[in-house]
Amino acid sequence: MIAIFASCKTETKSNTDIIPKPQFIEPLSGQFEISSSTTIYAKSSEAIEAAHYLHHFLRDHTDLDLSIVNKKRSKDQIQIETTKSHRAAECYQLYVNDNLIQISAPYYAGLFYGVQSLRALLPAEIESFDQSSNQWVISGVKIDDAPRFQWRGMMLDCSRHFFPVSYIKKHLDRMSRLKMNVFHWHLIDDQGWRIEIKKYPKLTETSSWRADYESLPWGDRPTKDREDGRRYGGFYTQEQIQHIVRYAQERNITVVPEIEMPAHVTALFAAYPEFSCKGKRLNVPTGSLWPITDIYCAGKEETFQFIEDVLSEVMDLFPSKYIHIGGDEANKKEWEHCPDCQRRIKQEGLENVEALQSYFITRVEKFLNKYDRELIGWDEILEGGLAPNAAVMSWRGMQGGIKAAKMHHPVVMTPTQHCYFDYYQGARDLEPLAFGANLPIEKVYEFNPVPKELNATEANYILGVQANLWTEHVATTSHAEYMTFPRLAAMSEVAWTNQENRNWKDFQKRMHKEYLRYQKAGIHYAKSAFNVNFKTEYNEEKKVNTIILQSSSLTGDIYYTLDGTEPNMQSNRYSSPITVDKTTTVKAIQIKDGQPVSKTTETTVYVHIASDGVLTHNTIPSSKYPDKKRSLLNNCTMGTQTFTDGQWVGYEGTDMDVTINLGKVETISSLQSRHLYNPGSWIFLPASVSYEYSMDNKKYQSAGVVRNEFTKEKTPIYYDYPLILKSPIKARYIHITAKNIGACPDWHSGKGQPSWLFCDEIIVK
Ligand code: ACM
Ligand code: ZN
Repeated sequence: MIAIFASCKTETKSNTDIIPKPQFIEPLSGQFEISSSTTIYAKSSEAIEAAHYLHHFLRDHTDLDLSIVNKKRSKDQIQIETTKSHRAAECYQLYVNDNLIQISAPYYAGLFYGVQSLRALLPAEIESFDQSSNQWVISGVKIDDAPRFQWRGMMLDCSRHFFPVSYIKKHLDRMSRLKMNVFHWHLIDDQGWRIEIKKYPKLTETSSWRADYESLPWGDRPTKDREDGRRYGGFYTQEQIQHIVRYAQERNITVVPEIEMPAHVTALFAAYPEFSCKGKRLNVPTGSLWPITDIYCAGKEETFQFIEDVLSEVMDLFPSKYIHIGGDEANKKEWEHCPDCQRRIKQEGLENVEALQSYFITRVEKFLNKYDRELIGWDEILEGGLAPNAAVMSWRGMQGGIKAAKMHHPVVMTPTQHCYFDYYQGARDLEPLAFGANLPIEKVYEFNPVPKELNATEANYILGVQANLWTEHVATTSHAEYMTFPRLAAMSEVAWTNQENRNWKDFQKRMHKEYLRYQKAGIHYAKSAFNVNFKTEYNEEKKVNTIILQSSSLTGDIYYTLDGTEPNMQSNRYSSPITVDKTTTVKAIQIKDGQPVSKTTETTVYVHIASDGVLTHNTIPSSKYPDKKRSLLNNCTMGTQTFTDGQWVGYEGTDMDVTINLGKVETISSLQSRHLYNPGSWIFLPASVSYEYSMDNKKYQSAGVVRNEFTKEKTPIYYDYPLILKSPIKARYIHITAKNIGACPDWHSGKGQPSWLFCDEIIVK
């Protein structure tokens, strides 16, 4: 049997480039051509629905207008059939040979996914809408497939920026191609209420609109109204929502609405301030708002009446089992002072405001449960005690999810580190403004949603995974596409394919065709993964640094220069790590078929007196940004502006204090320490850096102190603390102390909280 398959593989150019990768896929001999004479067979109602989907799809993307028939024939037919077998809810089988394409599954979901796999096996041109004629040939294949997880989600924040119905539908189409099945619709947040509620018309008259400061960056917008009254916003009518829910159902997607509470509802208080603690009418915020202190009053009965009224209309619109109630980032300061909330705490015998949040969520859960719906919320709903039946969406790492699963509550894993699509996906100086951290596609791909802390029973409570696109910095549909693709492809495989069937290298290969599909479909996808990355390695034996050039998506060749000039096809072609024995700048580009497919990226490796030295920490870096065995502080490699890039050492609230043993007496003419400033991530520059030197590591002399003239800018910067010595000194040991400012300054939202200090390199020349 195996021998036959092996020999057949060479007969036709087989194509098994499906994303997400099926659990079982085997190329067979033969090939099937879909032509105008091909018919689609379907008999059961589910099969007929899937057949209609396929018929419409082919009609929209090709010149084929196939007929759907209820009689089988032995050739030139696509047969879609429901099978009786009781197997996984979304499983399917797909079989292609010379005569037939057969898709079978127990339910509509599987039939639909069989069609999607068929689509993936067709040439990438199938994604274009120009209805061109083409040869629609599929090579023989056998697929037996079912998803690893039942929740394969993507969240889109439509509050911070509003996206039209037409885009939501495109987004659903694209999700379904990748077999994603939950659209988490973030409809409410501080900067806009986006769902029509008939009983409370002021929500869409007032709370859906804010003063239009779209021309300014999110963080720079004033809170005041505009004199010209110009507004930004929008909302979805109930009719539009019904349409979208149906459209999603046809694509096996459940729409889970998110109705934020008890915080992230400032926009609501522009229309109905009476449901907040203070009762004060507020403007709809125009941009960033932190900390968010205005909150639903948990003491007033009217609040719960309002929430129940809203949820009643929401449940009428959304048939989903789960209703998302937000629950994240509630600042409970107002609850501490509000007489109504304090009365509630007394009456209910609650311990504190955390318990009041638990009371709040549990009360809402009871209401939802009465209508056979389940509550899901961000992991903060664990604080003060989890509501009895609640599901948890774990975003602040995996810990919340682990805790909930151990308590036998359902969990969706969506930790920022792997799932936040608002993060940068490449070097930040080459990317549009995004949220501070970094999430390249390989980091999405490497995510395993089932942590080893869980035993098999507990692991069963992991419903699945979700990508989240928060849109503070994402104002347009084309930018939303850029942030979503290609990372959603990686997430789809995390969600669908069993861990043992996943492989990054294999995925990279299959991505080539995926990128082509984006081009054909006209998706404004990110090409960041094509850029060349640099990794410096130190050869202990030879005492030299080597630079490795790599790309997350290598389709062509990498060319580089070492002389500062722009690289092109006449430059060095990269084949093996580059050895550097002096300070060197490498510039690199990826070129395919004579055309650049990446931007030019560069790095500088600094070779200096201290780079062979042994570094000792006298204060302890944070375990979140620890040092490595070969210290990051003298490894010749600078960090990027992405502080999570593995080159930065971080100190939370403490000073950096290190000693470097240079190994022998050296003559030194300058010292320099480089630090990062990124106020959005609470990273500040040291107040000063002091340099001392010694011959014996006992008696030290000061070489000088470099102070910081504190800058208060919005954007991250590197900052060097150079000390040029008037006359060279001789020393064997260097002692460097960088003074942490200790706490975030008064003007900052983290005022009084420990401030971070980051260093990537100490350079001694
Ligand atoms: C969240 O990112 N605040 C859930
Ligand atoms: Zn209150």
